[in-house]
Amino acid sequence: MSTFAHTLNEQVGYEFTASQQYIAIAAYYDAQTLPQLAAHFYRQAVEERNHAMMMVQYLLDADQEVAIPGVDAPQTQFADAVAPVSLALAQEKRVTAQIVELVKLAREEGELVGEQFLHWFLQEQREEVASMTELLTIVERGKDNLLHVEEHLGRAAGGESPLGAGAPPAAGGAL
Ligand SMILES: [Fe+2]
Ligand SMILES: [Fe+2]
Repeated sequence: MSTFAHTLNEQVGYEFTASQQYIAIAAYYDAQTLPQLAAHFYRQAVEERNHAMMMVQYLLDADQEVAIPGVDAPQTQFADAVAPVSLALAQEKRVTAQIVELVKLAREEGELVGEQFLHWFLQEQREEVASMTELLTIVERGKDNLLHVEEHLGRAAGGESPLGAGAPPAAGGAL
């Protein structure tokens, strides 16, 4: 396996780790009867799962070995309602750095097809860091009355990302 393929297999694990973390955050909000915040993170969890499966499809298409990794246990307890969003933003920034490293590796190894595949993920990370930064601002502003946050998310719901149409195919189909 090339270093690029090996590192992309590792990234599959990080995407599933992100998915598990978002499920944990969604369950935390759901338990506090904050359904819009919960729904937001349940959706994010599915998106991260789809990212992992896009990488699996790439490895299959490139005739590279697929070695699905295990995931670390997510954080399930939080000091307050702001903490999960801070954690989520840190996670998105970490994933951005990981994707950037993958692009560099693809370039070093002359894997230009792999590099092109990753361009969508660079755009996706720009969008996810931006939207999580915005959500952090909203939750910090509304932390004393989370119903304001719920109302805001309720109004904002339904805005599909324009990146959806150009997304790479996911193994087994995107959910
Ligand atoms: Fe992702
Ligand atoms: Fe993400």
